[in-house]
Amino acid sequence: MNNIDVSLKGKNIILIGFMGVGKTTVGKLVAKKLQREFIDVDEEIEKEFGMPVSEIFNKLGEKAFREKEKSLIFSLCNQKNKVLSPGGGSFLQEEIRNVSLSTSIVIFLDLSFEGWKDRLDLILDSRPVLKGKSVKEMEELFNNRQEIYSNHHLKVVTDNMNVDVIANQIINKLSDLM
Ligand code: S3P
Repeated sequence: MNNIDVSLKGKNIILIGFMGVGKTTVGKLVAKKLQREFIDVDEEIEKEFGMPVSEIFNKLGEKAFREKEKSLIFSLCNQKNKVLSPGGGSFLQEEIRNVSLSTSIVIFLDLSFEGWKDRLDLILDSRPVLKGKSVKEMEELFNNRQEIYSNHHLKVVTDNMNVDVIANQIINKLSDLM
């Protein structure tokens, strides 16, 4: 594992992909396997505001959330040796895409809409962006977001794969960069 770290020169690893594809679960395991610190950006935002994401959206508005998301990601991108899981909407901001791609290894977790739909019950209540949307509208949002995720260094297709297999694939692909 240390060889990988040396070759990446301590660059952060950033997992991107639509909300609920498993960035946090996979990120935690990758961090553990690489002996790095894991940071969930939404969790950091919640700590700063002292409330869950859905309450931030309700009380302070999405703009306040997006600004905090941007400043946190900028500050994290100035650090090294982290595995980061930012919210799936963060990559919509061009400045976040640019700072992520220029400082870190960006890995896209690519899940099909069919695969994603199976997880809907698990994530619906905690994702304000999905609130009030029909499945068709969610599919449109899902499809519209795919283009921004095409900005990445590495991609792993995660359909029907368990978290350990996904984490190992990521680590294998990182070692191929050596
Ligand atoms: C969002 C994704 C969420 C969270 C917020 C907004 C989005 O994070 O940041 O609810 O706009 O895609 P996850 O990608 O971890 O679900």
